[in-house]
Amino acid sequence: MGSFVLLLASLLSAWTLFSGEPVHVQALDDGVARLPVLGYNTWNAYHCDINETVVLQGAQLMVSLGLKDVGYTHVNIDDCYAERNRSASGDIVADHVRFSSGMNNLTDQIHDLGMKAGIYSDSGWFTCQLYPGSYQNEYRDAKLFQDWGFDYLKFDNCAIPYDDIIRQGIVGKYQRIADAIAQLAKDTGKPPLILSLCEWGEEQPWLWARRFGQSWRTTGDISPDWGSIASIINQNSFIAWASDFYGHNDMDILEVGNGDLTYEEAKTHFTAWALMKSPLLIGTDLSNISDSDLSILKNEEVIAINQDPVVGTSVTPFRWGINPDWVSNSTHPAQYWSGESQNGTVFMLVNTLDEPANMFFNLTESPWIRAGRQYSVRDLWTHTDNGTAVRNFTAHAVPAHSVVALLLKDAGDEPPNSGPPCARPEWCINQNGTLGPGA
Ligand SMILES: *[C@@H]1O[C@H](CO)[C@@H](O)[C@H](O)[C@H]1NC(C)=O
Ligand SMILES: *[C@@H]1O[C@H](CO)[C@@H](O)[C@H](O)[C@H]1NC(C)=O
Ligand SMILES: *[C@@H]1O[C@H](CO)[C@@H](O)[C@H](O)[C@H]1NC(C)=O
Ligand SMILES: *[C@@H]1O[C@H](CO)[C@@H](O)[C@H](O)[C@H]1NC(C)=O
Ligand SMILES: *[C@@H]1O[C@H](CO)[C@@H](O)[C@H](O)[C@H]1NC(C)=O
Ligand SMILES: *[C@@H]1O[C@H](CO)[C@@H](O)[C@H](O)[C@H]1NC(C)=O
Ligand SMILES: *[C@@H]1O[C@H](CO)[C@@H](O)[C@H](O)[C@H]1NC(C)=O
Ligand SMILES: *[C@@H]1O[C@H](CO)[C@@H](O)[C@H](O)[C@H]1NC(C)=O
Ligand SMILES: *[C@@H]1O[C@H](CO)[C@@H](O)[C@H](O)[C@H]1NC(C)=O
Ligand SMILES: *[C@@H]1O[C@H](CO)[C@@H](O)[C@H](O)[C@H]1NC(C)=O
Repeated sequence: MGSFVLLLASLLSAWTLFSGEPVHVQALDDGVARLPVLGYNTWNAYHCDINETVVLQGAQLMVSLGLKDVGYTHVNIDDCYAERNRSASGDIVADHVRFSSGMNNLTDQIHDLGMKAGIYSDSGWFTCQLYPGSYQNEYRDAKLFQDWGFDYLKFDNCAIPYDDIIRQGIVGKYQRIADAIAQLAKDTGKPPLILSLCEWGEEQPWLWARRFGQSWRTTGDISPDWGSIASIINQNSFIAWASDFYGHNDMDILEVGNGDLTYEEAKTHFTAWALMKSPLLIGTDLSNISDSDLSILKNEEVIAINQDPVVGTSVTPFRWGINPDWVSNSTHPAQYWSGESQNGTVFMLVNTLDEPANMFFNLTESPWIRAGRQYSVRDLWTHTDNGTAVRNFTAHAVPAHSVVALLLKDAGDEPPNSGPPCARPEWCINQNGTLGPGA
C-alpha cells in the first residue's frame, strides 16, 4: 500500500514536471532493482583473498562509517568463495576454511545489519578464477544462492562451452539464468534474485541485456588510474541512452580509495558513475579509507541523482569540447553533459585536460533548458547555491581531471535584453517570415 502511494506520487510529480509524457518504464520490470544498486563488492580490494571475516568487517564498516545511511545497502561477494569442485549431489560448496561458518551464517549477519547480500557465479563451465560456473546448473545454483540467503547475483562471462554443446549465442546463454531466476521466484514466492550481468563490452549488452537483468557491464575491467576512468567515460558516452529504470549500464566497481587516483580524479570518477546511473559498488578496503575518499562516496546530493525516483535516464554529452562532437577518444572523452532530474537539469563538466581550465556553456546547448528563462545554480560538490545563470555559465579554473556537477532550476523569465533575441539563432525568424535582428 505504502509503495503504491509512493509510486502514484512519483508518477504524479513526473507528470507535473514534464506536463506531458508519462514516465518511460522499460526493461525487466520484475519488481526488484528499479534504481541502480548501491553497495560494496570484494573484488577490487581483495581479489581472491576473501573470507567471512573480511566480508563481515566490510559490512560492519559500511554501517559505522555511515555508508549504509546514505544508501549503500548491498554487500556483494565476488569470485573465489567456493570449493573447486561441486558436492557429490552437484551443488556448489562454500570454501570450508574461508567460509567455515557457512553462507547462511554470513548472510544472516549481513541482514541483521540491515543490508542485502550478493554472490557471484558465471554463465560458463567455470568462473574467471576457475571455480564452478553455472552452465547447465542455472536453476540449481540460483536456488542454492537463495537458500544461502543471497539477494543478488553477479553473473560473469568466462569459460564458455564449445559451440557444439551450447548451440546458443550470448543472448541464449544469459536467457538460461534469467529464466531460472524467474522460475525460482515463481516456485518459492520470494522476490527474484537481482541479476547483474558481467558480460563485458564487446558483446554490446546494452542492445539486449535489459530484458534479463538490472545491469550489464559495458567495458572491460576498471583499474585505479585516470586513464582507465577517462576511457570508461568515453566508451559510455556513446551508449548513455541505454540506462533507465530497471536496466543500467554498469561502468564497473568504484576505484575511489584505490591506486593513484587524485582527489579530483576520484571525484570525477564518482560523479560520472553516479550521474550516468551506473551501479555504485565501493571497491576499496574500508578499514583504512581516507576521510576525503569517504566524503566523495558520501556526497548525498550526487547519490540523490543516481537514485532519482522520478527520472531514470543518464546524463548525456551535449558538446564534446576539446574534440569535435562524437569523436571517440579514450584520453579526452566528452566534457559537457546534461540530463533531466526530479528537481531540475543536471550539468556535468569534466576537465579532461592536464591543466586547470575555465569551462563555459550556453544554457540552451542542453536540450532540457527552456529559452527565455533564467536558472538558479546549485553546486553539488561545494553544496552551495551559486546565484542565477542567465544565458550561460562559466566554471572558473576547474582543476585538471576534475569535475563540476550543477543542478539548475527554473527561476522564471530572464531579465529583459539579456542578449540576442534568439539564444540559438539558426532559423529563428519573425512570425511574418522576415529575418529578425542578429539572425
Ligand atoms: C581472512 O582474511 C584476512 C585478510 O587476508 C586475514 O587477515 C585473516 O586471517 C583471514 N581470516 C580467516 C579466518 O581466514
Ligand atoms: C575435482 O574433480 C576432478 C574431477 O572431476 C578431480 O580430478 C579433482 O581431483 C577434484 N579436485 C578436488 C580438489 O577434489
Ligand atoms: C555465526 O557464526 C559465528 C561463529 O561461528 C557464531 O558465533 C554466530 O553465533 C553465528 N551467527 C549466526 C547468526 O548464526
Ligand atoms: C589499506 O590496506 C590495504 C591492505 O589491506 C593496503 O593494500 C593499502 O595500501 C592500504 N591503503 C592505505 C591508504 O593505507
Ligand atoms: C529533490 O529535492 C528533494 C528536496 O530537497 C530531495 O529530497 C531529493 O533527493 C531531490 N531529488 C534528486 C533526484 O536530487
Ligand atoms: C585525443 O584528444 C586529444 C585532445 O584533442 C588529442 O591531443 C589526442 O591526440 C587524441 N588522441 C587520439 C588517439 O586521437
Ligand atoms: C553570457 O550571458 C550574458 C547575459 O547574461 C551576456 O552578457 C554575455 O555576453 C554572455 N557571454 C557569452 C560569452 O556569450
Ligand atoms: C560555487 O560557489 C562556491 C562557494 O563560493 C565556490 O567554491 C564554487 O567554486 C562555485 N562553483 C562553481 C561551479 O563556480
Ligand atoms: C553561446 O552563445 C553566444 C551568443 O548567442 C554565441 O555567440 C556562442 O557561439 C555560443 N557558444 C556556444 C559554445 O554555443
Ligand atoms: C515583420 O515583423 C517584424 C517584427 O514584428 C517587423 O519589425 C517588420 O516590420 C515586419 N515586416 C513586414 C514586412 O511586415
